[in-house]
Parts: sequence; structure tokens; C-alpha cells
Amino acid sequence: GVQEVFRGDVRRQHARRVLVFPLPFQGHINPMLQLADVLHGRGLAVTVLHTQFNALDPALHPEFTFVAVPDGIPADVAASGSIIPIILAMNAAMEASLAVRDVLASVLADDGQPPAACLFIDANLLAVQKAASALGLPTMVLRTGSAACFSCFLAYPMLHHNGYLPPKESQLYTPVKELPPLRVRDLFRTSSRDHEMVRKVLARASETVRNSSGLVVNTSDALETAELDRIRRELDVAFVLAAGPLHKLSSRSTGSSLLREDRSCMEWLDKQVAGSVLYVSFGSLASMDGVELSEVAWGLANSGHPFLWVVRRDLVPGSDGPGLPEGFDRAVEGRGKVIPWAPQQEVLAHFAVGGFWTHNGWNSTLESISEGLPMICMPHFADQMMNTRYVEAVWGVGFELEGKPERNKITGAIQKLMNEREGEVARKKARELQKNVASCLETGGSSLLAIDKLVEHISSL
Ligand code: UDX
Repeated sequence: GVQEVFRGDVRRQHARRVLVFPLPFQGHINPMLQLADVLHGRGLAVTVLHTQFNALDPALHPEFTFVAVPDGIPADVAASGSIIPIILAMNAAMEASLAVRDVLASVLADDGQPPAACLFIDANLLAVQKAASALGLPTMVLRTGSAACFSCFLAYPMLHHNGYLPPKESQLYTPVKELPPLRVRDLFRTSSRDHEMVRKVLARASETVRNSSGLVVNTSDALETAELDRIRRELDVAFVLAAGPLHKLSSRSTGSSLLREDRSCMEWLDKQVAGSVLYVSFGSLASMDGVELSEVAWGLANSGHPFLWVVRRDLVPGSDGPGLPEGFDRAVEGRGKVIPWAPQQEVLAHFAVGGFWTHNGWNSTLESISEGLPMICMPHFADQMMNTRYVEAVWGVGFELEGKPERNKITGAIQKLMNEREGEVARKKARELQKNVASCLETGGSSLLAIDKLVEHISSL
């Protein structure tokens, strides 16, 4: 059948194969599949390993081969949707069984495929790294967050030793002099309850990288030269490459969404004035309570600005699809659009969009910079505070909306971004940064050279 023809084709065209195994969350899946796409474009065959949890849809990527791996995540942990406990549970289950090793062994033994050179894994998959290593398969890590973030992972023991962590309420604005320009509040945020869990996850991520033969970071020399150098000084791995933003090197802008994209917003954007629309999205994981949702809604309504707002069905946990406040629809009629999930990269690239109110997940941050858009930043957790700090204090391409969302504060921030001088300055800087990042993606640019080096390395394995 079709599969046979396709596999025959693969054998003819590709000399080598790479395996990739993303962490099953949207912000991790996207960059891994983008990297896979870039490598495929360089003549490598690709096999994607994925968990049953948030399983990927092979039909969306007919050019790749897909293999499902038993993940052993207990149903209640999976249902919580909570990323740190899921990472730990999944690794524990994988380490307790030989299932991953068996799947890897059968993938390697498949002689209908070109020989596998290596396995790209998410840094949170130490169990998979160990299984690969037992089979003699080299691993490389794709870090889907910033270089600053990974540098912070490496520094986590030092941050404890030097008293910055666990964070004390009175020291939130104390500069972390070892990792400028971060302050205590910008570090990986942990409540005392999950502190030990986070510590464990970060230590294991560092170990995964140390056990691997190389590290690819989805960032750009134009954004994080010093941070990349810091990682290179700390790590004894063959290479640390800045090969991003990967979504700009990958030929496909869509195809890895776990949720269905509502494309009706594209026609709506077509009808708006250039640069007038504020795009609002808090990523794939962040949540808020009903009061916060209502404040965001009225802040947007009262701003008088056109907006496109992504309200995921699970944005307010426990509710059966978040209800927007009474009277909101009427107040924003013709000026505001609410959708459950957007084709975000296309939205950000649309001429009508002039600003991004974001939670500063690293992908959203990179995608915003890539389109030269200034940001209002409302970080929720993990690396997002750190990304906000870079947006504000290093690149100057946006500013933080601090504290809980509150309608008057929101309206003020939107005015500032879309109408006032501070927004204008951020917009100008965002366009300059966009150019600098884009030049790394051109022939002879650092990100393209990084991909060349990576492909050369893979071919030598
Ligand atoms: C979080 C972290 O903060 C991030 O830095 C970490 O690496 C992964 O976990 P997330 O909430 O998923 O990430 O945000 P982000 O990193 O921005 O990734 C979200 C992805 O989903 C982006 O690629 C974005 O384009 C896409 N997206 C988002 C959509 O396609 N449609 C939407 O409506 C919203």
C-alpha cells in the first residue's frame, strides 16, 4: 500500500535517519517537530517517538514515521494536566520498565528504514536518554526554552547555596548578581509545596544534557550570546548550538497543534486596519480564575482597541468552557474577537496585528520577536518570568503588567503599548531585533551555520 511505497521512497532518498522524542506538551512539541522538519529538509529521514498522553497525529506529518511509546503516566496525574508531576511520573514509569528500551530496540532494528544516527530528546526525558544509552544510541538534546533558562537550570544548586532560593518574599527584587539581569522574582518560581519537585526536575534536565553528545537551543546569537557562552563554559559536551528561531527555518507553520485552530480569525484580521489589533494569548498551559477572566475581558473592552483573544476551553480550570461576562459581547461587537485556539504564527505575521499581550512562554516570545511585535507581558510560571525580564530589561521590546490582572491597569497598559511613546519605543526596538534575528537565518548567519554543523555531525555518526 501507500506505506510500502513511502518507505521504499525513504530508503532511496535518505542515507541516515534521526529519531526525535518531544515532551508531550505544546510548547515542547512545536520546536521539536520544527527541528525534525529542518533536518528532513536536509535529506535526513525522521522517526517521531511520542507518548500516548497528548499523542501526535501521524496524518498531519506524512513525511515522518511515527512510533507510539507506552508512557505509564497514571490516569489521575495525566488528568491533572500539571506539567511537573507529569514529567516526574512519566520518567519514573519509564525507568521502572523496559518498554522504552524495547521500542527503541525495535525501531533501530527496522531494516526497512535508513540506519538511525542519533536521537533528539527533550531535556525532560532522562529516562529515554538512559534507555538510548543502554542501546549505544547517541542522544542530543533540544532545549525548547531560552539559553538564559537553561543556564539557570545549571546554576540551580549554586542559587540555593548562595541563598537566593527558595525565594523569600522580602528579597524578590534582589538582583542575582551571578546571573544578570535576573532578580530573585525572575527565577523559576516555586511554591514551598512543589519546591523539591522542581529542584529534582531541573537537576534531571541538566543530567540529560550532560549525558548527551550535544545541545541545540531554540534561540539566536542575536538574542543570547552571553548566555550561550555561559552554558558552553559550564558544559563538557561536543557542542552547544543556537539554531533558532526554529519556526522560521521550518517550512511548515502549522501541523503540530494539539487543539483545533480556529481559522475564522484570519478573515476577521483581513478586515482590520494595519497594526491596529492587539493579539492576546496566554499559551497552552496557563490558567486563571473567573474573576481574573472577567478583569481581562473588561480591560480589553474598556481599552477601545480592536483585539483577538484566545480563550482556551480550559483557561479557567473546573469550568465547563469559560463564560465571558454578561454584556461583554455587546460591548466589543465588531471590535473584538474571541477564539478557543489560534494559528498563532500566522496571526502574529498578519499586517493587522500591532501588539501581543502574552504570558511569555518561550515560543510565544520568539514568535513575537520574529514578527517585530512589541509585548505586554503577563508571565504565569516556570521560565516565563525570566523571559519577561529579558523582554523588558535586555531587549526593551515590551513591559510587564505586574500583579493580578485588573481592568484599569489593563486598559492603561494597552494604551501605553498601542498609543503612547513607551509603546512606540518598544515597537522600534522590536523591529530592529526582528532584523538582527532574521540575519542569523540568512546564508552565512549563525543559526544556519549551526544547522550545517549539526547535519555534518549527524552524518559523521
Ligand atoms: C510553557 C513555557 O512557558 C515555555 O516557555 C516552555 O518551554 C513550555 O511550557 P506554553 O504555555 O505552551 O509553554 O507557551 P509557549 O512556549 O509560548 O508555546 C505555545 C505554542 O502554542 C506556541 O508555539 C504558539 O504559537 C502555539 N499557540 C498558542 C497556538 O498555536 N495557538 C494559540 O492559540 C496559542
